[in-house]
Amino acid sequence: MLKSIKTISLAVVAVSAMTLGAGVANAAGGGEVHIEKHEWPHAGPFGKYDKAALQRGFQVYREVCSACHSLEMVAFRELDALGYNEDEIKAFAKEYDVVDGPNDDGEMFTRPGRPSDYFPSPFANDKEARAANGGAYPPDFSVLAKSREHLSLFTPWNSIYGEDYIVALLMGYKEAPEGFTVMDGLNYNTVFDGNQIAMAPPLSDEQVEYADGTPATVEQMSMDVATFMYWASEPKMEERKSLGLRVMGFMIVLTILLYFANKSVWAKLDDEDGRS
Ligand code: HEC
Repeated sequence: MLKSIKTISLAVVAVSAMTLGAGVANAAGGGEVHIEKHEWPHAGPFGKYDKAALQRGFQVYREVCSACHSLEMVAFRELDALGYNEDEIKAFAKEYDVVDGPNDDGEMFTRPGRPSDYFPSPFANDKEARAANGGAYPPDFSVLAKSREHLSLFTPWNSIYGEDYIVALLMGYKEAPEGFTVMDGLNYNTVFDGNQIAMAPPLSDEQVEYADGTPATVEQMSMDVATFMYWASEPKMEERKSLGLRVMGFMIVLTILLYFANKSVWAKLDDEDGRS
């Protein structure tokens, strides 16, 4: 018994040392892009979405990004989570043309969007999207924030969170360093893989006029749209977290009950054995 405990603890120490070593080697790798970490109100086990930031982020998406990026897995009615009422949601949906049909003549037709519709793509198909963007495909926003996340369980300080990546990308447009040739139609970006991105800098100061009066700096708009994109990739985050906390609470109570149940069962047996 003792021997196996010893082996297990040795294995645990060895694995931790290995992951720690890998983490340090990774950090010292050089040439790594620095992605600043922000304190997101929705992070952590008790995190909740900042609704004002979500509304501002949605405004940035609607007025800027939606010209190229679709959001196909989100329905207009889900915007109630951002604090909008039914009439406001109806008005947002109406701004979009949605393809429906076929009608009685067997033809497809367009009509104004309804709350039950999903955000339609700005392009008829992938080829049109590429043709309009110099051959590059503007990815759908539905799960983009999550797909750019690199979480490291053992070396959390090396984790990259999707929202931080998006903010760094949007603010990462800089003059290319001397000697770096940027290909035609591409833009230098410090964060994007390979440092050349087909997306032109989408944001500039005061590009939107926020309904709540917040000054629209590039940084503010980047933070807000990143929050909105994170919400789009996990609209049910708050429910998931609260369920998780309830399950944890239940497990703790169950553990305490089992501990005392176990103790009382063994107390009886020990008495019968004549041991104390
Ligand atoms: C004029 C079209 C256009 C607009 C407007 C636009 N984008 Fe893009 N975006 C693109 C294209 C094209 C790509 C693909 C770039 C590539 O693969 O080189 C892209 C890629 C991205 C990526 C993915 C980068 C990666 O890691 O692969 C993010 C994130 C992004 N855009 C965010 C935004 C946000 C946020 C906005 C609004 C503030 C926005 N974009 C507005 C065209 C656009």
